[in-house]
Amino acid sequence: MKTRFSRRHFVGGAAAAVGALGLRPNSALAALRLPPPPPGVVPADPYDDLAKLASNENPYGPSEKMLEAMNAAWKYSNRYGYPDGDIHEKIAEHHGVGTGNIIMNAGSGETLRVAGIAFLRHEEKVIGVEPTFTTVYRAASGIDADVIERSLLPDYTQDIDDLIRVTKRNYRDVGLVYVCNPNNPTGVVVPDSDIRHLLDNIPEDIPVLIDEAYHHFVQDPAYATAVPYIKEGRKVLVTRTFSKIYGMAGLRLGYGIAPEEMIDQMRTYATGSVNALARWGAATALEDPGYEEWVRETTIALRDATMTELRDQGFEVIPSECNFFMVHTGRPASEVRAAFRRRDVAVGRDFPPMLDYLRVSIGTEDEMKRFMAGWNEIFPDGMTATGRR
Ligand SMILES: Cc1ncc(COP(=O)(O)O)c(C=O)c1O
Repeated sequence: MKTRFSRRHFVGGAAAAVGALGLRPNSALAALRLPPPPPGVVPADPYDDLAKLASNENPYGPSEKMLEAMNAAWKYSNRYGYPDGDIHEKIAEHHGVGTGNIIMNAGSGETLRVAGIAFLRHEEKVIGVEPTFTTVYRAASGIDADVIERSLLPDYTQDIDDLIRVTKRNYRDVGLVYVCNPNNPTGVVVPDSDIRHLLDNIPEDIPVLIDEAYHHFVQDPAYATAVPYIKEGRKVLVTRTFSKIYGMAGLRLGYGIAPEEMIDQMRTYATGSVNALARWGAATALEDPGYEEWVRETTIALRDATMTELRDQGFEVIPSECNFFMVHTGRPASEVRAAFRRRDVAVGRDFPPMLDYLRVSIGTEDEMKRFMAGWNEIFPDGMTATGRR
């Protein structure tokens, strides 16, 4: 951060000032070389300058109505018990289930971790695909449970018949099946018919965790939420988050929906620590479908336009139903990522085994323009480019 500041301030900064502010090249101001700032004095936050396309966040943040509700909730900062917008009841109502079917956590990542710990015992197995979102797998490793990671099919879909086969083969040792739908990092959905096929064909006492963090972005009519399976009495846990469509990643509120016995089993391991602002922000978000709709439409329009530009240049882009997509770079994505980072654009990390695919989150219009400008420099000749810049 320091280096970046210095470079910009003393080299780029002076040169840019000459051009941008219309200073004469030989003016005293243009020639000025100020000493570096002392520790603690940061004139501008480099984080703000970064195009943040790495973590599938909502770049716009909470809606005005949510901000108002959260501002009004500061007065509860010093309390343990306080009015909380009835968020627990509102989530239950939103899904047409009872409050006993909901567990709230500080982000759905915590729900995933708690599920991993609650449903897996030492040396038991969690079964799912690779690559996917790995919080459950990491929770499993932390308690010496095993992870069976199965490959995606060539079209990047999850091989449900394979998951069924492996679950049956390991029946006695399987603690949990994990399905991220749509999948992160590919953005590909599992059709509802496949979810039903999975549930109908594995032993009914095996819990299935369906992670619907990106539910709100999906348009594919073959997809549907798995919440109805919970109402049918199946051993299904669906996780959702306020981090994505509602722009609350930094505020931390996610939840799980499941049969009461499963929720009770998880509660033992959960802290239930959701702060007052997050509660009020989330309660207001559920009453503000207009904002959700705007975020979805804007995100999808920017995603599709960016994907089209890349495809027009000959790059393979995996069809996505999310607020991110994966593009085939034809060379290690880590190199491409580093080249972007030098241009103040942060893009997704490595997702083994797809090491020559780059995951790009959808940011604002300005951020996507910066992404494409960077891309055109890094791949000046389209897909045939091999130059390292
Ligand atoms: C598939 C998936 N599930 C869960 C999460 C966790 O999100 P949070 O803990 O912010 O709710 C993420 C975050 O990126 C995700 O991609």
